[in-house]
Amino acid sequence: MKKVDVILGLQWGDEGKGKVVDVLTPRYEVVARFQGGPNAGHTLEFNGEKYVLRSIPSGIFQGGKTNVIGNGVVIDAILFRAEAEELAKSGHDLTRQLCISKKAHLILPTHRILDAAYEAAKGSDKIGTTGKGIGPTYTDKVSRNGMRVGDLLSPDFPQIYARAKARHEAILRGLGYDYDVAELEAQWFGAVDYLRRFRLVDSEYFINSALAEGKSVLAEGAQGTLLDVDFGSYPFVTSSNTVCAGACTGLGVAPGRIGEVFGIFKAYCTRVGSGPFPTELFDETGDRLCSIGHEFGAVTGRKRRCGWLDLVALKYSIMINGVTQLIMMKSDVMNDFDTIRVATAYEIDGRQTTGFPYEVSGSLKPVHTDFEGWKCDLRGCKTYDEFPAAFKRYVEFIERETGVPVRIISVGPDRGETIVR
Ligand code: GDP
Ligand code: IMO
Ligand code: MG
Repeated sequence: MKKVDVILGLQWGDEGKGKVVDVLTPRYEVVARFQGGPNAGHTLEFNGEKYVLRSIPSGIFQGGKTNVIGNGVVIDAILFRAEAEELAKSGHDLTRQLCISKKAHLILPTHRILDAAYEAAKGSDKIGTTGKGIGPTYTDKVSRNGMRVGDLLSPDFPQIYARAKARHEAILRGLGYDYDVAELEAQWFGAVDYLRRFRLVDSEYFINSALAEGKSVLAEGAQGTLLDVDFGSYPFVTSSNTVCAGACTGLGVAPGRIGEVFGIFKAYCTRVGSGPFPTELFDETGDRLCSIGHEFGAVTGRKRRCGWLDLVALKYSIMINGVTQLIMMKSDVMNDFDTIRVATAYEIDGRQTTGFPYEVSGSLKPVHTDFEGWKCDLRGCKTYDEFPAAFKRYVEFIERETGVPVRIISVGPDRGETIVR
């Protein structure tokens, strides 16, 4: 029986997961998303075209592979429809290629409103969510009030919806939040009809049967380990388990069925939304990373905060996920930098630590190791051997520190700008 390989982010999201899933898809027969929802924005570029996927797995563009939206995902029918219709217009009709778990939860129009209402109520402690209703939908799932894709097939669907909406409206009244849901609701009802056209399946059976038949499966994570609801910088996190264990619960795959764990990281760090970020740069270098790296949210357009690579955080993420292979992205962004810094420890109240702390306090200072910049265009390199020595020193330092090989290096947004070792 085959195993499921997992690919997931090791930082605060936007590491480049979409691009690499697309690059790896030819090795697999099935690609499956296991958590998150349209808070994700996964960018793919090839043949001069650019796509941003939110709910649909990134394995749809290479050779008609089956793609699965697993039970751990939350789906907004309106955004799903917009995404799928846009893809259909560009010649990618997914009605046969895409399976959706009946156990995936539905984001209702009032979930989006609740997301905004909760953020408003938090005042200056806002999480800076994507506003897509992610938190309220997962909250309903865990409190056993959620609506699932399978409910779309039930004759009681209107009543199930009405009950959920009434409950949400009572909360919104309690919060004194002003809203108008009528237009969104009309769109949503049209969109759930559209969703019914897809293959709604028991995805745990679908995936385990595929493995039993010797098919290979790639599980695609969204967000990143430092946004995980258990291990991220709580409460500035998303509401799902973004870590490797999330692939087990989000697809119905047993832990022993997990094969390779690909951990993706940028050669520096970014974060969008609020919350601690130990190596954040507030200077011109941070601005350079942002402008050269085009660090603006794929979903919200928000400016991403930028900083140096943080090996304390990276090692923590590698530990939590059991990463077996590293994938390093966007090194090309630092092509012109004279010096590149990496945080190897934190200093907290005068003492050094290499552990990721329970709480990142204001007194935390990263301890850096400096590297000489490579000062040349990595985008021209086609093999690892062609990379300049200064760049190889950077890569090999990361491998030594983490004890995990860097197997893929990405030097540009295009599918082809990828070096596999
Ligand atoms: P994801 O959410 O992890 O899929 O990542 P995003 O798509 O949100 O953000 C990654 C951004 O970096 C996208 O705009 C990609 O096109 C771009 N990108 C990916 N890999 C590279 C790379 O190696 N170099 C550069 N310059 N851009 C990259
Ligand atoms: P991909 O898959 C980066 C962040 C939000 C916010 C926090 C909670 O593209 O890497 P939520 O809407 O999930 O309740 O927001 O999580 N966030 C992301 N940041 N990339 C993402 O996805 C993200 N999804 C959520 O900015 O700080
Ligand atoms: Mg993204």
